[in-house]
Amino acid sequence: MTSGFHYSVLTSAVTRCLITKSDGIYVDGTLGGGGHAEAILTNLSGRGKLIAFDIDNEALRFAKHRLESFREQLIFLNGNFSNIKNILEKLGIGKIDGLLLDLGISSFQIDEPRRGFSFQRDHRIDMRMNQDQVINGWDVINNFSIEKLQQIFQNYGEERYSKRIANKIVKMREKKTIDTTTELSEIVESIVGKRFLNKSLARIFQAIRIEVNRELDSLREVLNDSIDIVNPGGRIVVISYHSLEDRIVKDFFREQSTIVIPSGYKYIPDRICKPSLKVITKKPIIATDEEIHINPRARSAKLRAAERI
Ligand SMILES: C[S@@+](CC[C@H](N)C(=O)[O-])C[C@H]1O[C@@H](n2cnc3c(N)ncnc32)[C@H](O)[C@@H]1O
Repeated sequence: MTSGFHYSVLTSAVTRCLITKSDGIYVDGTLGGGGHAEAILTNLSGRGKLIAFDIDNEALRFAKHRLESFREQLIFLNGNFSNIKNILEKLGIGKIDGLLLDLGISSFQIDEPRRGFSFQRDHRIDMRMNQDQVINGWDVINNFSIEKLQQIFQNYGEERYSKRIANKIVKMREKKTIDTTTELSEIVESIVGKRFLNKSLARIFQAIRIEVNRELDSLREVLNDSIDIVNPGGRIVVISYHSLEDRIVKDFFREQSTIVIPSGYKYIPDRICKPSLKVITKKPIIATDEEIHINPRARSAKLRAAERI
């Protein structure tokens, strides 16, 4: 579900699919530990530029240090990639030659107990990528209605015991607030049992994380804007780690690369109804066994790429 500070996922596929001009302007929308950024910069000429976003200030601090030697070619931005169009406009950058999104959370975020993302670390439930954001995972668990919780677990986690888990959370919090990742895990365990517990925990924690960070909305927004900001011939490369994200990317690429002729028309002139994208990866690129062996987090990664026409 994540790539990390130590290993970036599908790095050679990223540079191969993304870079079409060595002196182009690129955006890494998900800087994280800076592994992909470093690979991109290594493949650019001294005139190429990279604009690197992360919503998480801690990630930016780490990556700035790592990428110190490329400082002249880099602009760091602390913000949500869903605001990319406005931010580029403010910087006076009209168009870019490629956009990379390596979705989800980094291994730093998941491994750091203080960030409260993981059911394998005992800490207060948090799960905010942006630590300045007001709403966090604790608020979701302790304040959302049964119906809303059930919907989140169902829609963002595809968890079959969503209703029972939501009911139990609401019952338990009547006695005492549910504060920690361990308390939440115990509630899930009391419903699903031990056998498939880790799978259910992964689904429930993923669902809360998606809600807290509005992950799917941000993805839809940046994909829509990518059509306006990427130059013809430039690429959009997305690595996703679960089926909800992958479906959004796949459907978007399909819609934007297909001409839909409105009913009643036999022929629509090109200039009126031209596709915006050409899909580069007919099937998603996935990690080799060797990469998965070195970095188990690459197991669920799917890379899709499209070219702006
Ligand atoms: C999987 S990690 C990226 C790892 C990175 N590619 C590398 O090579 O180290 C995802 C990063 O994207 C950031 N992120 C997730 N959603 C974001 C958003 N909507 N806007 C900006 N950054 C986001 C997370 O904070 C995290 O640091």
